[in-house]
Amino acid sequence: MKKVFALILALAMVFALAACGGNASGVKTYKIGVAIYQFDDNFMTLYRNELESYFKSLETDTVKYELTIVDGKNDMAEQNNQIDNFITQGMDAIILNLVQTSSADAAIDKIVAAGIPCILINREPLGEEGDESYKGILDNATVCYVGADARQSGTFQGEIIRDLPNHGDINGDGKVSYIMIEGDPENVDAQYRTEFSIKALKDAGIEVECLDDQIGNWAQAKGQELCANALAKFGDEVEVVFCNNDAMALGAATAITSAGRTVGENIYLVGVDALEECQQMVKDGTMTGTVLNDHIGQSHKAVDVTIMALNGEAIENYYWVDYVKVTK
Ligand code: BGC
Repeated sequence: MKKVFALILALAMVFALAACGGNASGVKTYKIGVAIYQFDDNFMTLYRNELESYFKSLETDTVKYELTIVDGKNDMAEQNNQIDNFITQGMDAIILNLVQTSSADAAIDKIVAAGIPCILINREPLGEEGDESYKGILDNATVCYVGADARQSGTFQGEIIRDLPNHGDINGDGKVSYIMIEGDPENVDAQYRTEFSIKALKDAGIEVECLDDQIGNWAQAKGQELCANALAKFGDEVEVVFCNNDAMALGAATAITSAGRTVGENIYLVGVDALEECQQMVKDGTMTGTVLNDHIGQSHKAVDVTIMALNGEAIENYYWVDYVKVTK
């Protein structure tokens, strides 16, 4: 009789713990799916690692975060499958770095339909007219975007050149002759950085001449190739090399050295992200400037907001993190 009673008691305790803690040990484990557009991206690698370690740092004896981080390999079909899998696996929240913002609707719709909070990061989907808030986010209380306003980064790049003693006009012909190396052209960060860097110069009354504008898809090797080609073609005419990100600027720096040119003397080079190696180059003078794309601030904000959503707290639709200008 005693044995039966003890068994009933033990079972009752197990059920009570399961009800309050998610499992018998009293530990609540949240399952979080993180879909990154592509692991092979310098900036997103820093972002992803920081996201992971910040989640870890917030774990307690009773709350754990189990992350499943997947590589979209820059393929939207692949990422769609990954989102479907997250839904089937019953993720408690999904952090989504879209491969393609044109697929944002479809992705958000199914995540919302499954009752899962969705935190978009890094790649902002825009509204119909372009420069406005995106309905798919605004229409949903459990969907948000955490990121930085790419216009600001472009403006800062332009201002770095504007604020040079010669305003970027090395040969004194009254205009700044530049080449532009763009990221993925479907990405608003690439579009805005291309537009607003030049706008900052024009707004300051500086005349500009675009010698070349090519797509480097955020990649270092492509940045090097495009810059080398442009330097071979336009030679000394090239006064400024604008790169939409630091990975491509690293490539461009190699091409600049190979072409026998010297940053700060007969050419200028700017990027965005402030990768550690680029911060060092700015210090050394081998890069004119960059713009801090704050992966720490952005990833921490994304994690904080995810946890708010997991706790059932109301979240806002947009969270913005500032860029910071980096010069010597
Ligand atoms: C970064 C790039 C990165 C891209 C990925 C941008 O904000 O500046 O370095 O390749 O995000 O979407």
